[in-house]
Amino acid sequence: MILCANFKANKTRQETRAYMAVVESFVSANAIEDTIMVFPPFTALEHISRNVLIGVQNGYPAANGAFTGEITLEQLEEFEIKTILIGHSERRHILGETQEQIAAKFRFFAQQGFAIVYCVGEPLEVREYGYDVLMEYINAQFVGIDLNYPDLIVAYEPVWAIGTGLTASNREIEEVHNALRQTISAPLLYGGSVKVDNAGDIMALANVDGVLVGSASLSANDFCTMIAQATELQ
Ligand code: 13P
Repeated sequence: MILCANFKANKTRQETRAYMAVVESFVSANAIEDTIMVFPPFTALEHISRNVLIGVQNGYPAANGAFTGEITLEQLEEFEIKTILIGHSERRHILGETQEQIAAKFRFFAQQGFAIVYCVGEPLEVREYGYDVLMEYINAQFVGIDLNYPDLIVAYEPVWAIGTGLTASNREIEEVHNALRQTISAPLLYGGSVKVDNAGDIMALANVDGVLVGSASLSANDFCTMIAQATELQ
């Protein structure tokens, strides 16, 4: 299983340090073999090796240059970051990233050999049109994306389930994951209001290879409980 904690714009550097201490000691004390990734804000990156993978929530597709407000490869390399989230719905819908920009970002970081957690997901109004429209919308989010990239992880995160407390039903998750599995051999994560109460059930579904957790991952203890649930499934 792959379990990812996406902090979004939460936690200070100090808070992240305390969090990592809890998660890292849990991972080593329990000899966890699942893949654990944490995506803290840029300001909490540190140049120390960890038994948990640290990734970034974004990056600008350039080595360096005149890109005010952005973080490029050179700054990420300083912290030995080799893992990135691309296509998150908050970047698509709040920050206005287009599929073209997202694909350019994907190409750049793939060329650099990053592990890429690539997110897709539909808003509620799309889901209401039914399965065909839903899958057409999701497939459009793969335009320009190399699905055979060896370090690809795909995360299905329905927009209406993110930060709302609404989780997709197991049937809804399976329907999309089964469809994605037809063309994608990369691991498939589910994200959207995953928490201690539902993570075990979701990870047990067919074609679900892990979870991408936002708000519920902010508690180190809750995140460790979800890691323990993944271990029990083996
Ligand atoms: P929540 O778990 O807060 O719904 O967020 C999910 C998410 O967007 C993870 O990337």
